[in-house]
Amino acid sequence: MYRCYILLLSFLGQNYCFSDLSTRSSSQRLDNVTRTISSLLGGYDIRLRPNFGGEPLFIGMDLTIASFDAISEVNMDYTITLYLNQYWKDERLAFSNRNEILTLAGDFAEKIWVPDTFFANDKNSFFHDVTERNKLVRLDGEGGITYGMRFTTTLACMMDLHYYPLDSQNCTVEIESYGYTVMDVVMYWMETPVRGVEEAELPQFTIIGWETNDRMEKLATGIYQRLSLSFKLQRNIGYFVFQTYLPSILIVMLSWVSCWINHEATSARVTLGITTVLTMTTISTGVRSSLPRISYVKAIDIYLVMCFVFVFAALLEYAAVNYTYWGARAKKKSKKNKELEKNTTTEKLNSNDHKFNSDDIIELEEVRMSPIPSIRNKYSSRGDIFDFDQSRFPPSFRISRTTGYAYNYRASGLRYRGNKIGNVHKPKVMHAIKKGALVIKASMPKIKDVNVIDKYSRIVFPVSFTLFNVGYWLFYYFE
Ligand SMILES: *[C@@H]1O[C@H](CO)[C@@H](O)[C@H](O)[C@H]1NC(C)=O
Ligand SMILES: *[C@@H]1O[C@H](CO)[C@@H](O)[C@H](O)[C@H]1NC(C)=O
Repeated sequence: MYRCYILLLSFLGQNYCFSDLSTRSSSQRLDNVTRTISSLLGGYDIRLRPNFGGEPLFIGMDLTIASFDAISEVNMDYTITLYLNQYWKDERLAFSNRNEILTLAGDFAEKIWVPDTFFANDKNSFFHDVTERNKLVRLDGEGGITYGMRFTTTLACMMDLHYYPLDSQNCTVEIESYGYTVMDVVMYWMETPVRGVEEAELPQFTIIGWETNDRMEKLATGIYQRLSLSFKLQRNIGYFVFQTYLPSILIVMLSWVSCWINHEATSARVTLGITTVLTMTTISTGVRSSLPRISYVKAIDIYLVMCFVFVFAALLEYAAVNYTYWGARAKKKSKKNKELEKNTTTEKLNSNDHKFNSDDIIELEEVRMSPIPSIRNKYSSRGDIFDFDQSRFPPSFRISRTTGYAYNYRASGLRYRGNKIGNVHKPKVMHAIKKGALVIKASMPKIKDVNVIDKYSRIVFPVSFTLFNVGYWLFYYFE
């Protein structure tokens, strides 16, 4: 009777089970294999490699990627879970010349010679023990051995971060025999050396290619055969676009808003400038925390530093605007002061009936321009004196009016009054129309009243930032 549990209980392969099923009973077979294995191991010296003293032993390798677990820029390594299979032939273990395969328990490997393979760039590795140690041993009739295992390993991968985060990395798996030089052991890649690369998923990278190499490695103790598998990993930019680049661009754009705010709104513009500078600092701190302290300049450093420079320049631009604005006013004022003083003295000589001195006039002019309405109104109502005879005018005002000096600034009310005095005989309808037009004009935003530096900054800042971006992305992304 066919009893297939024999398959599980015995060490027999499937082929054996089917071919010899009819002629042997299960207990006979069990005995047979047990005896065979015992006889194989009898007198077997685990310390000596197959072919000891003769030709070097050829060991084939293949591996399957179970998963790419992590890549760490800070530690310059990556973690990967692998199935590694090694194939070699040990003639001492040949038991039959038929095509028979025995799958043995993993700990059979402790009773036979196995290669001392290691990973040259390994930092830390472990076998998985659930539920049993993940190892397999298969023996065929001619002594061919398949030795498989599954483990997780952290491998060093020196990364070049000059182009970070627009970089691609080349990470390798280096396989070598620890003790046997090329005189004793030669490793080679099997026909299908790597499986599972296409299925491997990484959060931050895409595997764009892999290749296998073998070479001789000359070390102090001899020349060793080294197999290497290298992965080409392309970093996905998406994360950085949303976490770093886009916020930085928006912050830089926010700093330009300052140029569109009235230069007299000091607190608004200074607050905007400082906020954008601080935000840029925060963004670059976040980026730095996920990187090792490398001294060279990375692509992202260049971008963040340039954004910082732009934001800082916007703040300095306001300092320049403010300085030139108030500086010009102070200059104008002192000049006016001098002129008026000169005029007053000449006027003093001509007529002594004035009631105002030059200081009062300047104060009055200042107050008319004052943004605080109550002050303006207070003085405006006092301006009724202008409606009386010419002799009651402040002397200096009369002079400035004749030189056309008083018309230049934006105290439109003054101009209106001047006209009124000049055209007392005009119809009242005209006055009403004029008054209405002036009210409308006053209520419209004074678009002309823009600082020259602001006017140019509105163009220069966006254009230069765009040029910088074009250059940056051309150099780093499409190099
Ligand atoms: C079982 O024993 C027979 C001889 O009785 C031998 O020819 C055969 O190879 C043995 N089978 C195994 C698997 O060792
Ligand atoms: C990785 O670098 C090694 C050594 O510089 C090179 O031989 C190999 O071809 C590279 N791998 C890839 C996939 O480019």
